[in-house]
Amino acid sequence: MMDVVRFKRGCCYIVAAMTNPNTSKLLSVATDAARQAADVLMRYYRDGVQMRQKTGGNRTYDLVSDADETSEAVIAKCIRQTYPDHELLGEESLSDGDASAEHLWVIDPLDGTNNFAHRVPHFAISIAYYHQGRPVVGVVLNPVRDELFTAIKDQGAQFNGQAIVTPPAVSLDQVLIGCGFYYDRGDMMKRTLSAIEEFFDRHIHGIRRWGTASLDFCSVAQGHFGGFFEYQLSPWDFAAGQLIVQESGCLITTAKGDELPMQKTSVLAAHPDIYDAMLQITRRHHP
Ligand code: IPD
Ligand code: CA
Ligand code: CA
Repeated sequence: MMDVVRFKRGCCYIVAAMTNPNTSKLLSVATDAARQAADVLMRYYRDGVQMRQKTGGNRTYDLVSDADETSEAVIAKCIRQTYPDHELLGEESLSDGDASAEHLWVIDPLDGTNNFAHRVPHFAISIAYYHQGRPVVGVVLNPVRDELFTAIKDQGAQFNGQAIVTPPAVSLDQVLIGCGFYYDRGDMMKRTLSAIEEFFDRHIHGIRRWGTASLDFCSVAQGHFGGFFEYQLSPWDFAAGQLIVQESGCLITTAKGDELPMQKTSVLAAHPDIYDAMLQITRRHHP
């Protein structure tokens, strides 16, 4: 969509063209792509697929499969049909996409690969559109439960078409906390565990580690989790979830309290009432 803006300077007018993203079209493309990818994933999930070690290194738990790759190809094709000039950044063959592009799609074609590999029915497709570095549209789809989470900047978040409203006020001793462990272990693992220990000292109701970061963010937005933290995530893990969290009225930053960069980073998402209390803990144990 093209808006023409006129600025008056002295007696002459300057006419500037400003691109204004058509959010309903972007959302429709993102949702369509996620649904096509869901068909791919569910077919592989039903029929079975060979999982492979991802890096060729010694991380036997870092997996990939034809399901991840085909899903990403289907999503890319769908987006490129409508937006051939947009940049794509995705976990598999799109990982060298330019994260600073003006029009950027950030894609995790299968979030929760380890769950998928072990036939745990909890995984998702995550797709976000960023304009000039800011999230504008986010879609997370859980194909097993057919649960669709969407958000548009300044227009709220939805769960299966119903508005997600900010959950009621909470304190740390009234909530479940979600967490994750990135593939790098060692010090990061120890620090995650020491943060968890401190959360238990603060009488939280429990810790959950579901293994699909995009859905963890949706759990914060819905109020199932009072908060979630992980000391390292990639942009495709949080890009869509970030907007869903923000548009639900919750807060999301790095686990040190900074704005999320478009690169590997720690992440803290929380209900506004307990964000500060969580931040003190995640910051203290931050690697
Ligand atoms: C992983 C999941 C997991 C998180 C890892 C991510 P993948 O993504 O989101 O919950 O703890 O850090 O890498 O590899 O399944 O797409
Ligand atoms: Ca992921
Ligand atoms: Ca993935």
